[in-house]
Amino acid sequence: MKKPEKYMEQAPVLENSLLAPGVFRIVVKAPKIAADCLPGQFVMVRLTSFADPLLRRPLSIAGADPETGMITLICRIVGHGSEMLSTVKVNTLLDIMGPLGRGFALECERPLLVGGGIGLAPLLFVAEYCCPKPVEVLAGGRTCDELFWAKLFSDTCHAVHVTTDDGSLGICGTCAEALPEVLKNGNYDMILTCGPRPMMQRVAAEGAKLGIRTQVSLEEHMACGLGACRSCTCSASGGGTRQVCKDGPVFWAEEVEWA
Ligand code: FES
Repeated sequence: MKKPEKYMEQAPVLENSLLAPGVFRIVVKAPKIAADCLPGQFVMVRLTSFADPLLRRPLSIAGADPETGMITLICRIVGHGSEMLSTVKVNTLLDIMGPLGRGFALECERPLLVGGGIGLAPLLFVAEYCCPKPVEVLAGGRTCDELFWAKLFSDTCHAVHVTTDDGSLGICGTCAEALPEVLKNGNYDMILTCGPRPMMQRVAAEGAKLGIRTQVSLEEHMACGLGACRSCTCSASGGGTRQVCKDGPVFWAEEVEWA
């Protein structure tokens, strides 16, 4: 089998826009990565013009267009690196390495995407990639500030189910709580999920009850993104460990040791 290619690209920023408080979208031109990446894969991003922070930041790919060479990244501000990234201007060059990791297996006809918060970013790429298949999404957020996700998914999904913790939009509760009802009314052949780990564990358990296979996209701290530093180790079911950056970030739910 051909070894997947990885590229380093000096990618100009074409857009940097605020989607909601603390969440921004960056579109860059990275033609090689855009041509080769698959949903669920990620890139490591570094600001070329700053020595600080030195490390690259892992970011899920939220969309890619091989025709235009553009890739989309959606990021939440969680620290100094993401805060600096949120301020980049159009035409700034970002140093981007990718595509990295193992993405989603998409041999399905009626997938249900289940995501919480920023975990919805890689699922957006799944929806775009699978369109016009009848993809549905169950999107969970804290408040109606996260309405923007519903809008982003409405272009490519047949149905968008929304939950908020405070009930200010859609179903009141978490998406794991709403999932049994959504599963009852659909005829899904795969669940793909990304978000907080306890949420994904519950989603996988609900899928297993109905015999629907589930893929989960794990988040771990990542320093190198290449399988070299072992900062992203997780436990595998049946013993042993896996590197989330290289063996994942997407795993079948049954591959993960959840305890
Ligand atoms: Fe270095 Fe995974 S991030 S081994």
